[in-house]
Amino acid sequence: MILDLTGIRALVTGGTRGIGKAITQMLAAGGARVAVNYKSKSGPADELSRLLGERHFEHMMLRADLTQERAVGTMVKRIDESWGGLDLLVVNHGIWERGAIGEMNLADWKDTINTNLTAPFIVINETLRLLFEEKPSAPKRIIFIASSAGIRGEAEHAHYAASKGGLIAMMKSLAVELAPQGVTVNAVAPGWIETEMTGDYLDTEGNREKILGRIPLRRIGTPEEVAAAVLFLASRQAGFINGHVLRVNGGETI
Ligand SMILES: NC(=O)c1ccc[n+]([C@@H]2O[C@H](COP(=O)([O-])OP(=O)(O)OC[C@H]3O[C@@H](n4cnc5c(N)ncnc54)[C@H](OP(=O)(O)O)[C@@H]3O)[C@@H](O)[C@H]2O)c1
Repeated sequence: MILDLTGIRALVTGGTRGIGKAITQMLAAGGARVAVNYKSKSGPADELSRLLGERHFEHMMLRADLTQERAVGTMVKRIDESWGGLDLLVVNHGIWERGAIGEMNLADWKDTINTNLTAPFIVINETLRLLFEEKPSAPKRIIFIASSAGIRGEAEHAHYAASKGGLIAMMKSLAVELAPQGVTVNAVAPGWIETEMTGDYLDTEGNREKILGRIPLRRIGTPEEVAAAVLFLASRQAGFINGHVLRVNGGETI
């Protein structure tokens, strides 16, 4: 196998549904051990654990609301006790809520910023010492799942676009800061991808056609197409890529 992740210890936040689920499955199939975080929905988590177990993939399911520092601390402690370190952190979890300016209140704004931008800071702060544990054979990586919205902005989603733009700026800062310790930091910026997050919106009359008209490839992307980009950035072969935003959007935002 060209992209071999055998033995790599990975944490995927929000790894039980949609894009995160595809990332988890692809990493596990590539040979990684995967710690899979989710916030509260145990149905999809149980189902994914069953699927991974059937294929004898080493994994652990970790329920934690990542906006809560103590919950993150407990989650990271479990990874440390089980594996004694971490090689790959995929910061994937996120929320996308409509919020027209003048209508959204401060609580809406804070909810999105806390989940999409502050929680990644908490997770990185807590996991950093595990990423620094010595294991010279493994590549050390942080990969953020950003969004096209963080590059081009998004009407009626200023809080979401700001959170994802902030994530890209955080990624670029950490790429420079952590390189001396051998950790590369990159982002994948998906465009429109078919998941529960976007399902209702895309199924609302007229929306899908409107969006397809803006995508040169004239289709919505799949979670697996985002996961493939993550798999590449996680691989040993991507070792000289640092501070990059990889767009997976069918050419919608170039
Ligand atoms: N879908 C798209 O078109 C698209 C486009 C661009 C970027 N993205 C980004 O890609 C990422 C994944 O999106 P998706 O469409 O796969 O989303 P999704 O299907 O809604 O899944 C979201 C995942 O994040 C978890 N999560 C949410 N808040 C959390 C918190 N506070 N703590 C821990 N876990 C939390 C959820 O856990 P529970 O199951 O327990 O709720 C779930 O596992 C997000 O960052 C999103 O912004 C998506």
